[in-house]
Amino acid sequence: VTAVSVIVYESFARCHLRGVMKLLEIEGWGSYLEDAERTFRAFTAPGVVTMVAAEAGEVRGFAQILTDGEIRAYLTDIVVAASFRKQGIGKRLIEEGFARANARYLDLLSTEDAETFYASFPGFRRLPGIRIYPNRRA
Ligand SMILES: CC(C)(COP(=O)(O)OP(=O)(O)OC[C@H]1O[C@@H](n2cnc3c(N)ncnc32)[C@H](O)[C@@H]1OP(=O)(O)O)[C@@H](O)C(=O)NCCC(=O)NCCS
Repeated sequence: VTAVSVIVYESFARCHLRGVMKLLEIEGWGSYLEDAERTFRAFTAPGVVTMVAAEAGEVRGFAQILTDGEIRAYLTDIVVAASFRKQGIGKRLIEEGFARANARYLDLLSTEDAETFYASFPGFRRLPGIRIYPNRRA
């Protein structure tokens, strides 16, 4: 008997929350870990496209994109489970999410160590990013 595993790419829904939280925990992305319901709302908010790669109900990866639905979109998060990397899952998550985002291009504020991944996409361009916290005292 050969086990055929099929990865499906689908919109994030409540059934994925536990699996997505597990990936966020492994990555140590603290702001998402305090409150799973807040994370659920963040991934389903208006203007947010969150795609999940699932295999027999198990979450193998996800990507969150913020979009205006017309022109601009930002990739805000992408994680593929460590033992499933380098199989094209990350690329498909971005392609599927971008298709649903209905934007012209996809920006990313910064990356610590995934630049080679982004460089594999058409039109890759490296630009300096800026981040400010207008509500924070210096
Ligand atoms: C970045 C990440 C999402 C990539 O997911 P992935 O499923 O492994 O990526 P893919 O298999 O779709 O790779 C797509 C391309 O990028 C390349 N690539 C991916 N990761 C790479 C790496 N670490 N080093 C070199 N090349 C890499 C692949 O070789 C492939 O190139 P090709 O299309 O020319 O063959 C995954 O490594 C990850 O979850 N990392 C930890 C979380 C993280 O850093 N997220 C990004 C925060 S900005």
